[in-house]
Amino acid sequence: MWGVGTSAYQIEGAWNEGGKGPSIWDTMAHTLPMVDTGDVACDHYHRLEEDLDLLGEIGVDAYHFSIAWTRVLPEGTGEVNQTGLAFYDRLIDGLLDRDIEPWLTLYHWDLPQTLQDQGGWANRRSVDWFTEYASVMRDRLGDRVKNWITINEPWVIATLGHLEGLFAPGLNDWPTTLAAAHHLLMAHGSATAAIREKVSDANVGLSLDCRPAEPASESASDIAATRHFDGFRNRWYFDPVFGKGYPQDMVEAYQALGRLDPGLIRPGDEELIATPIDFCGLNYYTSVRIAAGEEEQDNPEGPVGINPPSGFTEMGWLVDPDAMERFLLRVHQEWSPKSIVVTENGASYSDGPVPDGGVHDRRRIKYLDAHIDAVRSARDRGVPVDGYFVWSFLDNLEWRAGYSQRFGLVWVDHPTQQRILKDSAYWYKDLIERYSSG
Ligand code: NOJ
Repeated sequence: MWGVGTSAYQIEGAWNEGGKGPSIWDTMAHTLPMVDTGDVACDHYHRLEEDLDLLGEIGVDAYHFSIAWTRVLPEGTGEVNQTGLAFYDRLIDGLLDRDIEPWLTLYHWDLPQTLQDQGGWANRRSVDWFTEYASVMRDRLGDRVKNWITINEPWVIATLGHLEGLFAPGLNDWPTTLAAAHHLLMAHGSATAAIREKVSDANVGLSLDCRPAEPASESASDIAATRHFDGFRNRWYFDPVFGKGYPQDMVEAYQALGRLDPGLIRPGDEELIATPIDFCGLNYYTSVRIAAGEEEQDNPEGPVGINPPSGFTEMGWLVDPDAMERFLLRVHQEWSPKSIVVTENGASYSDGPVPDGGVHDRRRIKYLDAHIDAVRSARDRGVPVDGYFVWSFLDNLEWRAGYSQRFGLVWVDHPTQQRILKDSAYWYKDLIERYSSG
């Protein structure tokens, strides 16, 4: 199954239209000097038909997108906004008309501001808020949508949003970070059960981000730092979701540092987090080398601009398909989900239109080709990878990096909203055709 992905805040725009309420990203965009905002983004809200036709033209089997919680429940809970729901009805019907399978993500980072005002994910009640929202979506769309992703990238939400202050809601506190992470995982378990309860043939999972890490040297201190980094970045999420509970070494480390509120993890919570899922969504982009002192650092440099050093993307991310293959094997061996779906993989390169009218993004094709090869070889080694989504369908708002970082198969000229299929889109189309013809 070959697909492409997007998320609501990154493409929809229309931030205050059709009865939509404000999210934490709207607040961040309007209170900080952000380079770009999602107020208009790719104007997808108004260009739905054109974008559906582009998806049809690329020929994808599946499309993954997210719902803007505040389009549907402007206050976060309570009153449902029919105009917002109608937009997603049109999107889903448009996909089904084109034989494209909808993969719906419930939460891709845009928490209703009203809920943030009550503590957001750090408040245990967020589990109930999210379950209510998931149930509204299930009741409305469960007849047509079978593939559900509850939460996208819990580490990013918790850490970049509540510790590093880089992403909404822009906080800087360890206990809040671990509380947000815990409630996100509980919300995932609770929503999974709610969807399953009414949609008997639902395929439910979540998208976990990962960062494979190798020690920078064979020194004992680098090896220990790498082990800690893996706990902080990967195991804290994979272990409880797959029934192993929180990793004990990390619980002890966080407790010793006073980061973990003693009352946070209560009896029954870990069982809820481990509610069985149908697939593990995996978002993979890059890997890191960790030296002592870097055990909680992840890409500290940030985007590096349009001439990245060879072997890196413009996000400053190392291109490392072998690490992807090894991580897929690890997921299979260590956590054994029934099925794995690569829910995101892709590269930021800013190659744009040239006088012949095309976009010759050779570096993206090379990146995708190498990573798809890695997936193929993991499958040959017995890893049950059942789908692959390129991030992203459109050049969109790369969060705090704005429109400077382009991940799309489709070029978007933001001032005019003109779309152009890049060479990578045609390359992907050919690949999909080759597969479907056997
Ligand atoms: C992960 C996120 O889910 C997505 O929103 C983001 O644009 C890509 N990675 C690239 O950074």
